[in-house]
Amino acid sequence: AFAQGRGQAGWMGSINSALQSAYNQYKSLNEGKNADYIPALAQVPSTYFGIALCTGDGKVYEAGDTKQLFSIQSISKVFTAALVMQESGDQKIEDTVGVDATGQVFNSINAVEQFKGKEMNPFVNPGAIATVGNVKGSSPDEVWAKILKIHSDFAGRQLDVNQPVYKSESDTNQRNRAISSLMSAYERFPMDPAVAVDLYTRQCSINVSAHDLAVMGATLAFGGRNPVTGKQVIDSSHVPGLLAIMSTAGMYDDSGKWLFHTGLPTKSGVGGGLVGVSPGKFGIGTFAPPLDAAGNSVRGQRAITDIVRQLGANPY
Ligand code: DON
Repeated sequence: AFAQGRGQAGWMGSINSALQSAYNQYKSLNEGKNADYIPALAQVPSTYFGIALCTGDGKVYEAGDTKQLFSIQSISKVFTAALVMQESGDQKIEDTVGVDATGQVFNSINAVEQFKGKEMNPFVNPGAIATVGNVKGSSPDEVWAKILKIHSDFAGRQLDVNQPVYKSESDTNQRNRAISSLMSAYERFPMDPAVAVDLYTRQCSINVSAHDLAVMGATLAFGGRNPVTGKQVIDSSHVPGLLAIMSTAGMYDDSGKWLFHTGLPTKSGVGGGLVGVSPGKFGIGTFAPPLDAAGNSVRGQRAITDIVRQLGANPY
């Protein structure tokens, strides 16, 4: 249906030209600034810009710095939530962290206090740390192996951790440690809170590229099956719930505005990445470090907005 009426070659040409024109249009746009509350992120060159799109046949279309690695940051929250849904059911996420937007910043302590650690979602820091704390395992190593594996399965290649970012964030994550302790005090997860926040920090430091994010998004666009490797990474029954949370909370306080303009369930990270999902059509990944006030990549948002319009990919 997506390609109908254009012919395969015409369709592929449309994708290439949509990516290339968004790349050309925003390449020199100098708006926003790198996150600097994690010192290592301030050091990443602000000029990097990559856009990649992966379709159901596993083909990846690319423009710009699509192979450059950067830390996944909050985008990891989607895949660890997927892991908990896969091993404990969707209800586990609803019951332990909630599936509602908080209307507050991603590391808000007020949001925890408001409902005693409930009524949040897995994409704000308290909910994400509690999500990690609900992964099953008898040791931190076992839990970590599962977290890294699900990210790698979504990407279709073995991923690893950006050690300087992990070290930099571990040295400066006092606020997340407080959040983890508070969520533990409200009995939102059974793991030692110091372990949960360390695993969370590690998962945020996983290195990915825009190309990887496109494949990860495409895996969600096609019912949990990675279109490049053919592996069924999670059961398709978990995908609607994940996309719903991405829609309502993936872009933090700008999630409504973002959905209004694009209709795409999308998740951002403070490393400058975005992953967007057009169900049944494609996954899109972008990388451009400077962020707007809400914490979302400026050039990534502009590029995806234009590409969605050009390709008629708004699911609504
Ligand atoms: O915990 C943090 O603050 C970071 N590791 C992740 C935050 C993040 O990516 C928020 N995204 N826009």
